[in-house]
Amino acid sequence: MFVYKLFIFILTISATVASPSGPIQTFKLNDGRDMPGFGLGTWLGFISTSGNSKSQEVENAVKWAIDAGYRHIDTASIYDTEDQVGNAINKKIAEDVVKREDIFVTTKLWNDAHGRYSVLPALKNSLKKLNLDYVDMYLMHWPIAQYLNGTFYDVDYLETWEAMIAVQKKGLAKSIGVSNFNKAMLERLISNSSVKPANLQVELNLNLQQPELLEYCKEQNIVVTGYTPFGSIFPNKARSEAPPPRVDDPKLVDIAKKYNKTVPQIVLRYLVELNIIPIPKTITKSRVEQNIDIFDFKLTQEERDLFKSYDTNYRTIEPKMWQESPYYPFEMK
Ligand SMILES: NC(=O)c1ccc[n+]([C@@H]2O[C@H](COP(=O)([O-])OP(=O)(O)OC[C@H]3O[C@@H](n4cnc5c(N)ncnc54)[C@H](OP(=O)(O)O)[C@@H]3O)[C@@H](O)[C@H]2O)c1
Ligand SMILES: *[C@@H]1O[C@H](CO)[C@@H](O)[C@H](O)[C@H]1NC(C)=O
Ligand SMILES: *[C@@H]1O[C@H](CO)[C@@H](O)[C@H](O)[C@H]1NC(C)=O
Ligand SMILES: *[C@@H]1O[C@H](CO)[C@@H](O)[C@H](O)[C@H]1NC(C)=O
Repeated sequence: MFVYKLFIFILTISATVASPSGPIQTFKLNDGRDMPGFGLGTWLGFISTSGNSKSQEVENAVKWAIDAGYRHIDTASIYDTEDQVGNAINKKIAEDVVKREDIFVTTKLWNDAHGRYSVLPALKNSLKKLNLDYVDMYLMHWPIAQYLNGTFYDVDYLETWEAMIAVQKKGLAKSIGVSNFNKAMLERLISNSSVKPANLQVELNLNLQQPELLEYCKEQNIVVTGYTPFGSIFPNKARSEAPPPRVDDPKLVDIAKKYNKTVPQIVLRYLVELNIIPIPKTITKSRVEQNIDIFDFKLTQEERDLFKSYDTNYRTIEPKMWQESPYYPFEMK
């Protein structure tokens, strides 16, 4: 067992890339490709998607991110930020700051395109907006099939997955994976398809650490990306019932001071030490730079135990309105 785990460890943490403060680990995917262990999120929140693309804020953030050493950008067709992400990457390529192969781009298939003949056109549409020839990772955003107006339709995610395997074979997505799948769904997917997902993207933060799911993915050699890494630490974003801690928690402030870091930085550091890939979102230049500056220190076991104690299985992203779907992935409330 130990030898097996050591093997997986060597397999997953195989290489490193430079960051301003030290090496960022790179994960070896089960399809042989590499995935940078830290990325930038680009979801602007549950606001009307019309009009986002006219603003430059995501494009600027991605440019600052690339300058600061980020090599992994997370977007999705539903975020309506693919065009800005693509503009930023293409400009940085034109300026010779990076080459296309240096940047790992993830985008996601929305719920309205789960039919077997809808996946290829949806990805082509994303590539057109990104103005790229391929994405590095294409994720099924949710296991749920639903029209844009919210009505569910009945397509099994196994069928959607077969169409995702086909777009990978075409080279339009170098790797494929899923998001918001629970363990039972992953098991069913793995035992009924020819290609195992390379990546699972799920919510992971102090209040939702999902140790069992992480253990299962480790066994299956599926690399895990953690979304909404800050969870409820910011008082202006937290729901009133959200469990502690907040960013001004004295214990966290003390740990941050010890390392000359901020509380958001030590939270991200903890997630990195769980061997998952955090993808914090910010459109603020100083925060873009701050968030990646976490690779020059290590938490102690005692500190990790404190972080672990905040795990209350509390979900920040919980689309209860989708509970009617037969493929709703979370506990019913
Ligand atoms: N697969 C999925 O279903 C799914 C779901 C949710 C999210 N995601 C992905 O995960 C990414 C991250 O999740 P998220 O956007 O929900 O939340 P998040 O990254 O946990 O938090 C974003 C918020 O934190 C603020 N922030 C960032 N860094 C900060 C810092 N150092 N100090 C203070 N405030 C800071 C940002 O503010 P400013 O921007 O104003 O600076 C923004 O309001 C998304 O953007 C998206 O790419 C995926
Ligand atoms: C939602 O859209 C679908 C597909 O266009 C349509 O068949 C369905 O009637 C719509 N439902 C509602 C409630 O508008
Ligand atoms: C898929 O795999 C499960 C085992 O995880 C099995 O019970 C099921 O019959 C398989 N087939 C389908 C179509 O779900
Ligand atoms: C503490 O961090 C700040 C911001 O990163 C930096 O400017 C400063 O030099 C650091 N101080 C020490 C003592 O390392």
